[in-house]
Amino acid sequence: MPGAVRRRRSHKVTGRLDSSADRRGTVEYAIPSVPRPFTGPKSYRWLMREHPIDRPADLDAVRESYDRVADNYAQMVVTTGVGDIRSHPWLKASIDAFADSVRELGPVLDVGCGPGTVTAYLAERGLDVSGVDLSPRMIENARRLHPHCRFSVASATDLDLGEASLGGVLGWWSLFNLPREVLPQVLALFARALKPGGHFITATHVGDEDAVRTEAYGGVPVRWTTHKWRPEQLVDLIERAGLYPVAELRLPPEEYSGPGLVVMARRPG
Ligand SMILES: C[S@@+](CC[C@H](N)C(=O)[O-])C[C@H]1O[C@@H](n2cnc3c(N)ncnc32)[C@H](O)[C@@H]1O
Repeated sequence: MPGAVRRRRSHKVTGRLDSSADRRGTVEYAIPSVPRPFTGPKSYRWLMREHPIDRPADLDAVRESYDRVADNYAQMVVTTGVGDIRSHPWLKASIDAFADSVRELGPVLDVGCGPGTVTAYLAERGLDVSGVDLSPRMIENARRLHPHCRFSVASATDLDLGEASLGGVLGWWSLFNLPREVLPQVLALFARALKPGGHFITATHVGDEDAVRTEAYGGVPVRWTTHKWRPEQLVDLIERAGLYPVAELRLPPEEYSGPGLVVMARRPG
């Protein structure tokens, strides 16, 4: 399947210097932090290279937290419909548009699939889709609820995706835990993995804050940060990754756990 885990290599590269580079001109994994606000050239395509993506410092804490909430989350989706696109017409319409756009293009990867609700929805529509998630417990639930679908455990930051190997990629309410300097690297990976004409869709929380969560989904103790994005910031990041935004949907606060945003983008070509 396309979402196999890449073994991390520890290596040094010599490259362009940024503020984190050492004075000798050799830098460890020389991806610069992304400036806020963005002032640089309108392209981060040079990030599309063979180097591993920076490992988020809190990745283990985030994984353990989602493991702890996984059963409640799956239960919530199944029993209340919250978190299920079928109970939200605009989210469902977005996923339907995505499905129609990628149908003929090849495999689709649902990154941060949780209990696999959207993966299964797309599979029912005939797409060649698989799901991947950081949390082993989420994946256990996904396999239990959707035994006919393919799921695996991996972080978005550890995926080994072949160039132009995918018709579609989703980051559906699943990329907001990535630190601000890591998200552009993951977007660049997705852009590179898409075939020309392939589509990326993401949904995320809107705002300026890095909101620290200490409990979630029924009072379960968690430790993660929700990095909220302003719509224009996120769209800019997606463009810098080399994708062309084709649609944007804004969700008001009362509609879906705070203001939200859906962006769909296409790899040119
Ligand atoms: C709010 S849930 C959304 C799940 C699913 N996409 C849905 O809409 O029901 C967020 C999911 O993102 C996953 N996640 C968080 N960080 C991740 C990472 N670095 N790589 C892969 N999955 C991640 C979590 O484990 C969790 O299952």
